[in-house]
Amino acid sequence: MRPLTVIGNWKMNGSLAGNAGWVKTVCRGMEQGMPAGRKFAVCVPTPYLAQCGKLIEDCSLAFLSWGAQDASAHVSGAYTGEVAASMLKELGCTYVIVGHSERRQYHHETDEQIAEKALQVLDSGMTPVICVGESADERNSGRATEVVRGQISKQVMVLQDRLADCLIAYEPVWAIGTGKVASAQIAQDMHRAIRLQLAEFDEDVASHVGILYGGSVKPDNAVELFAMPDIDGGLIGGASLDPQDFLSICQA
Ligand code: 13P
Repeated sequence: MRPLTVIGNWKMNGSLAGNAGWVKTVCRGMEQGMPAGRKFAVCVPTPYLAQCGKLIEDCSLAFLSWGAQDASAHVSGAYTGEVAASMLKELGCTYVIVGHSERRQYHHETDEQIAEKALQVLDSGMTPVICVGESADERNSGRATEVVRGQISKQVMVLQDRLADCLIAYEPVWAIGTGKVASAQIAQDMHRAIRLQLAEFDEDVASHVGILYGGSVKPDNAVELFAMPDIDGGLIGGASLDPQDFLSICQA
């Protein structure tokens, strides 16, 4: 049985004062009781990992953890500005997002680099959240499944059965930050396609891997999305910035 996992991705948002209020509200809300067997986390900008980690640790909720939004594909060395997975582990991260479409778009990250990043994250004892997804043009030209299959096949090639220890996030680019959520059926169909593709490689990996949906998830559409058999949770952007909305999605 795959646990439902809800991860917030703050992207480049936050402030020392604002973060403290967010953690306080979310912890208080979660202390009132959450549906059993779920996992929650928030991936914050690197400079806030120490602060948010400490605050979340202090609220001692076993099901709430934190993570980062990217990691280097390298172990250490002359890579100015990069952050090694081992450093994120030292800051207590449980999850690291890799290959977010914003990094693919603005930093030209390739599937190969993303797989190398995921390997570093795994080697450091954390869970990579590997993002895949098609653009609007790719979907409109009927190539959505082909594009996502291509992205997944590179991950399979490099990560092999270590994929069982990863999370995959299907985030259609046209649904990110646009308010245009994929319908629950469109999302389910792609999640199913991803799981079937993984099963071609290894049935066990396919049944273990959690596949999260991301793209305009809000409190009012989360219930329907999370009810789908191959949707194992969500990667939440904009709505994760509001602690009440994040709580509602976690409870959905
Ligand atoms: P939004 O929820 O703001 O659409 O962002 C989704 C996302 O990119 C999460 O990683």
